[in-house]
Amino acid sequence: MKVLVTGGAGYIGSHAVVELLESGYQVVVVDNLCNGSEVALSRAEEITGKKPTFVRADIRDRPALDTLFALHKIDAVIHFAGLKAVGESVGKPLAYYENNVNGTLVLCQAMEAAGVRRIVFSSSATVYGNEAPIPYIETTPRGTTSNPYGTSKAMVEKVLEDIADADRRWSITLLRYFNPIGAHPSGKMGEDPLGVPNNLMPFIAQVAVGRRDELTVFGNDYPTRDGTCERDYLHVVDLAKGHLKALEKNTKPGVNVYNLGTGMGTSVLDMVSSFIRVNNVPVPYKLGERREGDLPAFWADASKARDELDWVAEKNLDDMMADTWRWQSRNPNGYRLL
Ligand code: NAD
Ligand code: UD1
Repeated sequence: MKVLVTGGAGYIGSHAVVELLESGYQVVVVDNLCNGSEVALSRAEEITGKKPTFVRADIRDRPALDTLFALHKIDAVIHFAGLKAVGESVGKPLAYYENNVNGTLVLCQAMEAAGVRRIVFSSSATVYGNEAPIPYIETTPRGTTSNPYGTSKAMVEKVLEDIADADRRWSITLLRYFNPIGAHPSGKMGEDPLGVPNNLMPFIAQVAVGRRDELTVFGNDYPTRDGTCERDYLHVVDLAKGHLKALEKNTKPGVNVYNLGTGMGTSVLDMVSSFIRVNNVPVPYKLGERREGDLPAFWADASKARDELDWVAEKNLDDMMADTWRWQSRNPNGYRLL
């Protein structure tokens, strides 16, 4: 079976490429490298001994996609490509809707023309909006999103639902990720954010490796156990495996939606102390103001993925901490040499 992975040179996509190759799939990656690295793909080859085909192109480039589908007999698409920085999306809504929404439209049009109608889409827990009861469960309707990134994910979900309603030959899986962290246990692949990391785990790792002086904990007056926000962190390899389960199990027509998370909340202070304990490295931090837009706590009800996809997160927080540090300490500057 041949799978097209859009955004396969990025953080989650590259981990999915490894799992696909290890499970015997043929893999074609399309990525414009706006936030990914070809080095990630050579590392995937080092890990698996198998080479994914790489096409450097933008998913909004319809002729390039038509050529790709003509050259490769693709059976299914896993669609990771998109922009993902919440803060940036507030200042650049056009770029986010253009890339995330229009990119998906062009991709689906090219798929339709090529007769490929199976897609697994990277959605996010953010589509539950600000008011959903915890734990988040798939039966809760999408809520009000508070930034263009989140809205773009909700819009793409709706577009894909409408495509499946209009033509029952489409088989669509929406995977709502909670907070993916960690790295490949080989230490060869991991998260490599450009500039100052927005997210907690890469920030902690960069403080530990000496690239940043200290972490600021955004708020300690939330109504949680220790006053800091709680999130459902899951290992990126578990998340990658969820995509294979979606490919294997979801072959029926229509739209299926699944949360991918552990079902457990962990606080910011627990994250910092786990990293220090597991890796025996200091992580200086200070308590600071709340970050605008942060919710106090949310985590997944992950029982639907367990029951229907036979998927559960297998790795624990200690694995996430150890694997993050193995990657960061061996690759202090990520995939860049300097
Ligand atoms: P990433 O930025 O590391 O990977 C995205 C990849 O897509 C990059 O390699 C980038 O170069 C590529 N890309 C972007 N726009 C493109 C385009 N128009 N054409 C071709 N390639 C393009 O991000 P990630 O963390 O691996 O996230 C993958 C997907 O999962 C994204 O859609 C993201 O919104 C979604 N997601 C991520 C998280 C998270 O915390 N990382 C959480 C929920 C959902
Ligand atoms: C963020 C996005 C969310 C996206 C998710 C994917 C925002 C507002 N939300 O969620 O849409 O789906 O990433 O992973 O950006 N923190 C600190 N100090 C830091 C960085 C983070 O204390 O330097 C705290 C945050 O306040 C939060 C927690 O750590 O409580 C996790 O933050 P982050 O990794 O950015 O994830 P989310 O906020 O859950």
